Amino acid sequence: MTYLERASELRNLLEEYQRAYYTTGRSPVSDLEYDRLFDELSAIEKEHPDAVTEDSPTHRVGSDLSSDFPEVAHTIPVLSLDKAYSAQEVFTFIDRIHRSNGAASFVLEEKIDGFSIVLYYRKGILERAVTRGNGSVGNDVTPNVKTIKAVPLRLSKPVDISVRGEVFLPVEEFQRINLTLDEPYANPRNLAAGTIRRNKSSETARVPLSIFCYEGFWAEGGFDDHIKILSELKTLGFPVDPNLSYFRSSAEDAAARLAAAGLEGRACSYSDLPDEIEHHTRERKSLPYEIDGLVLKVNEIGFREELGYTEHHPRWAIAYKFEAPQAQSVVEAIDVQVGRTGRITPMARIKAAKLAGSVIRNVTLHNQDYIDSLELAVGDTVAVSKRGDVIPAVESVVEPNTLGNTTWKMPSVCPECGATLEKRGAHHFCPNRNCPAREKGRLEFFCAKKQMDIEGLGSGTIEDLYSRGYLRTITDIYTFDWSSLVRDGVPGYGEKKTSAIAKAVEESRKTPFRRVLAGLGMNEFSHKAIEILQNAGFRSKQSLTDLVADSAKALEVLTSLDGIGPLTGAEIVCGLTDPDNIALLNSLEELGLCMDDGAVSEAEPTEAQIFAGQSWCVTGTFDHFQPREKAMEEIKKRGGTEVSSVSRRTSCLLAGKNAGSKLAKAAELGVRVVSEEQFLAMIGQKEETESVQGEAQEIQGSLF
Ligand code: IVH
Repeated sequence: MTYLERASELRNLLEEYQRAYYTTGRSPVSDLEYDRLFDELSAIEKEHPDAVTEDSPTHRVGSDLSSDFPEVAHTIPVLSLDKAYSAQEVFTFIDRIHRSNGAASFVLEEKIDGFSIVLYYRKGILERAVTRGNGSVGNDVTPNVKTIKAVPLRLSKPVDISVRGEVFLPVEEFQRINLTLDEPYANPRNLAAGTIRRNKSSETARVPLSIFCYEGFWAEGGFDDHIKILSELKTLGFPVDPNLSYFRSSAEDAAARLAAAGLEGRACSYSDLPDEIEHHTRERKSLPYEIDGLVLKVNEIGFREELGYTEHHPRWAIAYKFEAPQAQSVVEAIDVQVGRTGRITPMARIKAAKLAGSVIRNVTLHNQDYIDSLELAVGDTVAVSKRGDVIPAVESVVEPNTLGNTTWKMPSVCPECGATLEKRGAHHFCPNRNCPAREKGRLEFFCAKKQMDIEGLGSGTIEDLYSRGYLRTITDIYTFDWSSLVRDGVPGYGEKKTSAIAKAVEESRKTPFRRVLAGLGMNEFSHKAIEILQNAGFRSKQSLTDLVADSAKALEVLTSLDGIGPLTGAEIVCGLTDPDNIALLNSLEELGLCMDDGAVSEAEPTEAQIFAGQSWCVTGTFDHFQPREKAMEEIKKRGGTEVSSVSRRTSCLLAGKNAGSKLAKAAELGVRVVSEEQFLAMIGQKEETESVQGEAQEIQGSLF
């Protein structure tokens, strides 16, 4: 036998033993025997480098060479799941699907709390392991993933297949390793995520990561239901989580199909769903790995395709999350905010609480109905969550107050102007257009970054100038003699600051009409709605005035536009025919503000929509974009949308200098990180000089 033949024989044996171990939990040979064969193969490969193959189990020990996680495009869309936080939402999901398709059956799986990975096999050999990244581009972490013993390097059949799975660290291993670290990790998921991105795969190899695989995509052929897919994944050598429940109209039918597929799992009828959710929730504590929820999936692939996808999620699955991140705190006060539209928002002022990386003091309570449903009173101890990692919310009262306070009630009059509040729908409103809070709100909104972006006129300055009686309406911004602030020696308004404001005000006269219009804050005149109007040719004050000359016809035209429904259409007509709004627009026109984007758009080339469909988060400071909102503008011009925090759904994090927790979060979640340099290259303002991966590694270095 030649050394090549012996190497091949050893590889086959080792792969077979490993597959058996990871699919049945039992090894056909002793550890000693396994190690002996492994050492023999290592020795041959060392002596004859030509004997090394892609699928050699010797890759499992990793290497000390630094790898740089190049970016690669996924060849399957790597979507995430829509989330439900109550079992009720899951019941509603199944009901809705059953109404449209009574024949659909369902699989309930554990939602493994780990690190999402896509494994690409060609002719049965692991070719690439790629992080989820932004769903279309991820990082190639193949050498590190090859060290995970549960990941088959060679399948039992020479198929071309992409497989999604979750890399995790068993809880016991996590506890053992964490004890040895100077900076312990908060949970096994973070440690697993950090390990997958170690520069040296030999270091990854030292952490006993594991994997469960849950979706398979064959280049050719494939299977018509999920149960068969899981069964075939098992046959190919992938570890599949056995703790699943399979729902059909009869439990017997489900049992027969599970048996035929050679899968463990619980056979159920549809009505068992509540019990099954309870069962898995109960069992959670005794599992050797962490799960953060359950995933309910439509079983039939044909039905899945019929149900389709949103931009980010399949419509055929839902993740039931056991809990949103929560913290406890005490409600010290409840007061109300009056918005520029007059809407009253009750706010809970809570004792500072740390939650998902930030300190929370103010929590919106939305409206009276919300407060009533919680039966919330001042002094209560509450559970606060950050749903979708963005808006803090009061989830429940954990302990009612002992002060005798009863459920908080909305005041009957506006705390700012004394007008009697009106209830419209679920909300209360201050009906007084001249309420100081509303006037200030309108000024702030108009000057804000997203609208006119008048530097120097932030909320503090507006508040001050309003209370001093210098500013009241939007037109005041343009008629006010700014230099009088210096002449009159108004405290806090030196020459430098005042002339900067005056200059910014002057420049804002050139702001495109679409932003002036948005700045007026009329109902339903969102940036999106204005964009729709502009795309339909309504780019000037005159064209809009002409449009609403005949209200009925205007409504017809507006509702024919994609994205404008009858309610929005009616509000737009209402806004454009309101005498106050007409007067304001006329005054602003007289004051020289732009009222026609026809001319502006020629000077402003429309950018290629290279970020269309992507969500971007921006953090840190930049050399070329000050303030950083300017970078956000570049993103939006190219079709991207803005998010304020990094989540799994974020496409990219644009990270400037001194980026902090968001950078770590992006690294943890595998969200693509883009440096200022790279960003400049992307938007065509600079040659690209470095690779994206350099950044990613730096972050990882600080994580581990
Ligand atoms: S299915 C299109 N099944 O949870 C299919 N995901 O947002 C989407 N996860 O990114 C995934 N356990 O990383 C699925 N049994 C399971 C899962 C699972 C964990 C992760 C996965 C995904 C995230 C959901």
